[in-house]
Amino acid sequence: MSKKYHLLAIESSCDDTGAAVLCNDKVLSNIIAGQEIHSLYGGVVPELASRAHQQNIVPVVDIALQKANISLKDIDAIAYTQGPGLMGSLLVGGAFAKSMAMALQVPLIPVNHMQAHILAHFIDDAGSEKPEFPFLALTISGGHTQIVRVDNYDNMTVLGETTDDAVGEAFDKTAKLLGLPYPGGPLIDKYARDGEAIYPFTKPKVDGLNFSFSGLKTQIMYFVQKESKKNPDFIKENIHNIAASVQKIIIDILMDKVEKAIKETGIIQIAIGGGVSANSGIRQALLQKKEQKKWKVFIPKTTYTTDNAAMIGIVGYFKYINQSFDIHQPLSKSRLTV
Ligand code: KG4
Ligand code: ZN
Repeated sequence: MSKKYHLLAIESSCDDTGAAVLCNDKVLSNIIAGQEIHSLYGGVVPELASRAHQQNIVPVVDIALQKANISLKDIDAIAYTQGPGLMGSLLVGGAFAKSMAMALQVPLIPVNHMQAHILAHFIDDAGSEKPEFPFLALTISGGHTQIVRVDNYDNMTVLGETTDDAVGEAFDKTAKLLGLPYPGGPLIDKYARDGEAIYPFTKPKVDGLNFSFSGLKTQIMYFVQKESKKNPDFIKENIHNIAASVQKIIIDILMDKVEKAIKETGIIQIAIGGGVSANSGIRQALLQKKEQKKWKVFIPKTTYTTDNAAMIGIVGYFKYINQSFDIHQPLSKSRLTV
């Protein structure tokens, strides 16, 4: 029987404060505190985000430990999001994790947020099946859009990424144009369900496996402005069809590139991650490809696709059991007194 390790994981890369406790690859607790305040501003305000992390981090960690029924003395290591993310937000989680690791004299494990979105698939209850190496990962979030070739837990190659806006930004900025609050992605998804993709937006021409979404945003803006001049109620009367059209073009852009990546690599396993992978249209499009093209598609539970600390914990666990990683040992007591 394999040895049991307990890891505390902390995520604070953007506007969600998360803490999770894992026992090996099993999640004992996964707590997240969102920040409503940003919806007033139509996007994440970095200064407000770091202040809210400061307020939330202690209670969130406390609840995670209580829910896992674990006391601090049982924690074997602490994993935290090192980046990428908002500097002020990362600093709060990082400083907290470092101080706690030092106080408990346990290893501190820095984790890459994008690697965590990918390895979330390996959390014990993430999905009914786990991808096998090598596989392709489509990581789509508010900050990133990437196609990654995953050869092993610690061997990943970015094959393509956005050259400007992330796909989540395309959703959120379109929603803002339509007068919807932040984050608008889930609302576009909701309105699109009762609409038809009747407005023909065009795909940008981007080389290789890279993406671009800023041109699409401008295209949508000009379209909405033009139509609203003719009919001031255009948005109100047509919001479902606009949302469906925007969602369709975004799905087409993503599917084209995934198809290209599959052709180029010969790898037919595709695993999605990141907040945007909650989108029902994207999930449906992938499941259609699974039927039509025999792709193997991996869609984890939504709790593990949006930002969460359990995904940081699973990377921490792999790094902990494979000591070849860059785990920082805590400072020794003698050094602390220097
Ligand atoms: O991964 P995530 O939680 O945070 C970042 O690292 O960015 O992703 C947040 C993004 C936001 O842009 C949000 O609008 C988008 O994910 N999102 C969606 C949906 N749910 C969340 N976009 C489209 N459809 C959804 N259902
Ligand atoms: Zn993320």
